[in-house]
Amino acid sequence: MSEPAPSTEIHSVLSEGRVFPPPESFSRAAHIRSLEEYGRLALEARRDPDAYWGARAREEIFWKEPFRTVLEWKPPDARWFIEGKTNLSYNCLDRHLSTRRAQVAIRFEGEPEDRRNLTYGELHREVCRLAGGLKSLGVGKGDRVGIYLPQVPEAAVAMLACARIGALHSVVFAGFSAEALQERMKDAGAKVLLTADGGWRKGQVVPLRKNALEAARQVSTLERVVVLGRTGAVAPSDPKEVSWASLVSGQPESLEPEWVESEHPLFILYTSGSTGKPKGVLHTTGGYSVNVSLTTRWVFDLKPDDIFWCTADIGWVTGHSYVVYGPLMNGGTTVLYEGAPMTPGPDRFWDIVERHRVNVFYTAPTAIRSFMRLGREWPDRHDLSSLRLLGTVGEPINPEAWIWYREVIGGGRCPVVDTWWQTETGAIMITPLPGATPTKPGSATLPLPGIEAEVLDRHGRPVPRGQGGLLFVARPWPSMLRTVYGDPERYAKAYFGEQPGKYFTGDGARQDEDGYFWLMGRVDDVVNVAGHRLGTAEVESALVADGRVSEAAVVGRPDELKGTALVAFVTLKKGVEPKGELRAELAEHVTKLIGAIARPDEIRFAEALPKTRSGKIMRRLLRDVASGRQTTGDTTTLEDLGVLAALRGEEE
Ligand code: PRX
Repeated sequence: MSEPAPSTEIHSVLSEGRVFPPPESFSRAAHIRSLEEYGRLALEARRDPDAYWGARAREEIFWKEPFRTVLEWKPPDARWFIEGKTNLSYNCLDRHLSTRRAQVAIRFEGEPEDRRNLTYGELHREVCRLAGGLKSLGVGKGDRVGIYLPQVPEAAVAMLACARIGALHSVVFAGFSAEALQERMKDAGAKVLLTADGGWRKGQVVPLRKNALEAARQVSTLERVVVLGRTGAVAPSDPKEVSWASLVSGQPESLEPEWVESEHPLFILYTSGSTGKPKGVLHTTGGYSVNVSLTTRWVFDLKPDDIFWCTADIGWVTGHSYVVYGPLMNGGTTVLYEGAPMTPGPDRFWDIVERHRVNVFYTAPTAIRSFMRLGREWPDRHDLSSLRLLGTVGEPINPEAWIWYREVIGGGRCPVVDTWWQTETGAIMITPLPGATPTKPGSATLPLPGIEAEVLDRHGRPVPRGQGGLLFVARPWPSMLRTVYGDPERYAKAYFGEQPGKYFTGDGARQDEDGYFWLMGRVDDVVNVAGHRLGTAEVESALVADGRVSEAAVVGRPDELKGTALVAFVTLKKGVEPKGELRAELAEHVTKLIGAIARPDEIRFAEALPKTRSGKIMRRLLRDVASGRQTTGDTTTLEDLGVLAALRGEEE
């Protein structure tokens, strides 16, 4: 390893803008208390990664049987903590029962303001009962279970119940359509799907049961759909349907966890890639548990008495790692909120922070920007003095929003941790440590010890400090994805196809002179729309699936609130009129096939799409067109992009 040890002298080098030193209270009591300590650990991890990770693994979780080998690395295949046996549900629940049975594990608040607390004892009981219920349906170790639930405690119960019996969960965000659900359940070969009659969102009921049953009809492996009563009781009417209440009734309150090998698969989570259909990112038990537990403690400084609110939905990886597993492994209290951030009013979030006395708050830049736009009067109506640490994730945060967050929400006293990671990384990778790292607004700062992040050019050469390049991770880490479910070739190509043995993130980044990382967004055809990850190819194929579209190209354009907005360029089949309504109909079609998060913000009709002589769509040109020009008043104009392409010549 030729890289020098991370710098420990950030304070003196004001490379860009302001630097905020770690607050003294954190430098005194956080897990890592100085940049020197961070530097020592990073160096230790670099010199002997196996010793470093082995020590972390023993520290973080309970192993029923110890591991004997830390890592077996045959790129691109990693196996961590070999021969170790553990169970994640045990680490989240049973481990705390003797000390925290009566402590609240989940504080739930529904959108209609119904509330429910579950103690560790109660959560353990609910998990055991559902685990027993799933077993009674024939679900066992290695089987796949779909979860399509609103953000209610049963969603966490469902995940933990699967982990308890060694079944893999595959959570599908409740905002996805029946078609998107069906595609994911088919790919996973799910046996059972857990859903609810509905969930609340902006005062409306999301028709989850209807979507689930529709999907189940198309997926032959799905034997049962278990329906939780949430928005109004419906009697089961479909042959595959069984009610949640009847499934768990009479099940024992305690059930022995299935001790699984460290590499036993834990979950599949679908995420967007640059081509084709969503990828089933597969995570396994031991490595994921270790890294998620560790990052929750180190990055969020989570203590058992803390009330932690991560606003992400459990349908995304942030919800998996930092709503459910991380806080529970650490014996904390996690807040679960079902509904929309602005319902019934723009201060719903701050009302929740005040009433639940939230200590650690973790959200996305897009939410911060919306709150900032509404003005500080909304948070100012509430007592936010319980907050002591703030986090962001999901997309780059602009320094202005970062400073607003720190000053207005954090009262200038809470450190802000801008955490960079991905569905594939399982846990946080590049982030400040609140007691150690001076922060610079807009930078995710430094990689955690043991994470060898590098900025390289297309040929794998290190890029000089200050210049942009591609972000790689040069060594495996415990919570890395293990494969793309059912498609190992895609795994190898997408993540290890750029540089042998190095994980390619798909992100652009640069390091400043202090070695701080500044994330620059995706370099592939993946876009981040309001913190949600979407593949432009998915949206394109949804558009083309409408019989009237001949070809579609979808690109991102910068958007003040969402980070990126989706612009679709569409050519129509012969004889189809580019009428105004068609635009709305196509947007509706995308919503039906994927979900509202993929609905294009703008659809522009074009005579032809600009292409290179070899037939590749010139996306860069389209991105320029999408961001540079205002939409003309006449919304049905057909653009002649071919002319533009000709003017520009073949350059992509
Ligand atoms: O582009 C990066 C962006 O989100 C992508 C990962 O999306 P997803 O798998 O949905 O996971 C999101 C939550 C972990 C990354 O490739 N991203 C995530 N966090 C940051 C970020 N970009 C900049 N700064 C961040 N802190």
